[in-house]
Amino acid sequence: MRVLATGGAGFIGSFLCERLIERGDDVVCLDNFNSYYDPRIKRLNIVTVSRHPNYRLVEGDILDKKLLQDLFKNTHFDAIVHLAARAGVRPSIQQPHLYQKVNVEGTLNLLEMSSQFQVSKFIFASSSSVYGKNSKVPFSEDDSVDCPISPYASTKRAGELLAYTYFYLYSISVTCLRFFTVYGPRQRPDMAIYTFTRLISEEKEIPFFGNGTSRRDYTYITDIVDGIENAIDRCKGYHIYNLGESQTIELKHLVRLLENALGKNAKIKSLPDQPGDVPVTYADIQKAKAELDFYPKVSIQKGIEKFIEWYVQESDSRV
Ligand SMILES: NC(=O)c1ccc[n+]([C@@H]2O[C@H](COP(=O)([O-])OP(=O)(O)OC[C@H]3O[C@@H](n4cnc5c(N)ncnc54)[C@H](O)[C@@H]3O)[C@@H](O)[C@H]2O)c1
Repeated sequence: MRVLATGGAGFIGSFLCERLIERGDDVVCLDNFNSYYDPRIKRLNIVTVSRHPNYRLVEGDILDKKLLQDLFKNTHFDAIVHLAARAGVRPSIQQPHLYQKVNVEGTLNLLEMSSQFQVSKFIFASSSSVYGKNSKVPFSEDDSVDCPISPYASTKRAGELLAYTYFYLYSISVTCLRFFTVYGPRQRPDMAIYTFTRLISEEKEIPFFGNGTSRRDYTYITDIVDGIENAIDRCKGYHIYNLGESQTIELKHLVRLLENALGKNAKIKSLPDQPGDVPVTYADIQKAKAELDFYPKVSIQKGIEKFIEWYVQESDSRV
């Protein structure tokens, strides 16, 4: 099978490309190496996989329609895994137009290519943020997602809706995967686990928004990649799935896990709640279990140990 992975040089995308190459697929990675975080990190993410003969890197933007036309004219894809996006809730409040452009218009461009060039499977990276302040836990795919509380969340919901339209009009099979906070080696440096780890290691204060009781469902990277892989293979019709560990942990407990793994105490700087942040995320994964055979294997305790092991090795290699 030939798969186009947009955003394939990023955190999740680079692991996905490795997995698909390992199992014998042809992979084209389309990424523009933007500077949302240091693009050198993205280049490092793909060092190993890019040596493989079945892997091709196309450096470019999903907003570049000419580039997309040329790419799809010359290469037939069996599936698209559309991960390229501006990620991050808080920056979307500062740059809503940019998020709209990349996440909505960019997704529309790829759906258009899918219909014009007969790509039969479209996997869309959505997000738990679409649930907004949903107070009913765990979050089920049937819950209302009409009240997203950040531009980022709105763009992800818009992507799901556009994808439905293309399923309806052109019979493209679509699977939307709502990822719940993904972590592990190569995690985006703007995310809390990475930021806290760096600040605790450097003995600097960590910004602690709210009273530490906000809860997140954290999902280890290899579990997410298992879910995406099965979603590609089983993509038929239009479906939405939660991919989470289906466990929640409080922010203050997360900090304790990081302190233990690093052998250092955190210096906490208490700050008010951030606009756009939700108090809890918690995935109901019954549907993903039944239909995607999605059984997350890595507990937060084990996952944090693995993350810290990677982080320490990485920092040593930078010295
Ligand atoms: N990491 C998480 O916890 C999480 C949770 C929910 C949803 N998601 C979604 O999963 C996807 C991957 O997230 P990630 O954490 O790996 O982020 P990431 O930023 O590491 O990866 C995204 C990649 O897309 C590329 N990209 C961005 N805009 C592009 C454009 N216009 N053209 C081409 N490439 C472009 C970036 O250069 C980057 O390499 C995103 O769609 C994100 O919204 C992630």
